[in-house]
Amino acid sequence: MERKRKILVVDDEPHNIVLLEGILSKFGHEVVGAENAVVALDVLDRSFDLVLSDVMMPVMNGFEFVTKIRKNEETQDIPVIMVTTLSQRDDRLKAVEVGANDFITKPIDIFELKIRTESMLKQKAQHDEIKLFQADLHEMVENRTLELRQALAKLDKAHVDTIQHLCAAAEYKDEETANHLVRMAEYSRIIAENIGLDKKTVHLIHTSAPMHDIGKIGIPDSILLKPGTLTAEEWEVMKRHATIGGNILSMGSSDYINMGSVIALSHHEKWDGSGYPNGFSGEEIPLPGRICAVADVFDALTSRRPYKEPFSIEKSLDIMKDGRGNHFDPQLIDIFFENIDEVVEIQKSRGD
Ligand SMILES: [Fe+2]
Repeated sequence: MERKRKILVVDDEPHNIVLLEGILSKFGHEVVGAENAVVALDVLDRSFDLVLSDVMMPVMNGFEFVTKIRKNEETQDIPVIMVTTLSQRDDRLKAVEVGANDFITKPIDIFELKIRTESMLKQKAQHDEIKLFQADLHEMVENRTLELRQALAKLDKAHVDTIQHLCAAAEYKDEETANHLVRMAEYSRIIAENIGLDKKTVHLIHTSAPMHDIGKIGIPDSILLKPGTLTAEEWEVMKRHATIGGNILSMGSSDYINMGSVIALSHHEKWDGSGYPNGFSGEEIPLPGRICAVADVFDALTSRRPYKEPFSIEKSLDIMKDGRGNHFDPQLIDIFFENIDEVVEIQKSRGD
């Protein structure tokens, strides 16, 4: 069953309220009467569907009353019909100005009252329906957006997982451990963060740094796993891992893979141009490669390798310092030293 429509009747003449109440109740509506606008404002809330108001009233007149209804967010959409006498033409215009929707002329004609109230109630019902639909739509869009965001985050996580497993697989036969990848990525993150790169780039470098040595997959075991010093020829083969890594990742379609390609190709370049594979120098070397060079060398120095025991932090830092301006970007080395406490903390907590 359709709910009863709720109408507020405001008039300072009690018999007018009784009259309107009687007629509107007969039309099947619920009627609430108020003897002045102040009382009316007190009872009026969003549960009402229509207001019928007199114009000339003590305490607060009909114009002020409508103005207040329109200013209140809860009541601003409730239609208002002003009840005026025929002589109040100017009043009618003023009522329109302040936001009244329609007029009924006194003395009340039942037929006119029915047509005007039903028309207003119909409009109000349609308006309510649209508002409800909009609210539903808004909620639906919000829910779908949230679902989409969650799906994208899940996809991103799966992608990062794949990268990490790929890197772990590439390092598997090498002596380097999963911890090496974590430490190296963390050192890179610390530098990237502290030179003021934006959050997204820091995340990209952090996630992609473990791909730096992925090209080792293409180096023969006899060279990769050789316990002693490499011959000059073997060393040339070993150096190819940078280009191989860059190539493996060069056809990537994700930001992570693209960043991985840049890092793999450039992490052995040196600031003075004496590195490999391209012999780039200074800012010619992509910034992520310069960052990862610092992180990678520090981790190699402080770790055990087939050809060496781990160096102490002090000795490692001395070597790093010597590399300032020749091996490493001086600005990055300075940042690295400024944040050495955090670096050492990671070195200790993620040690092999
Ligand atoms: Fe490398």
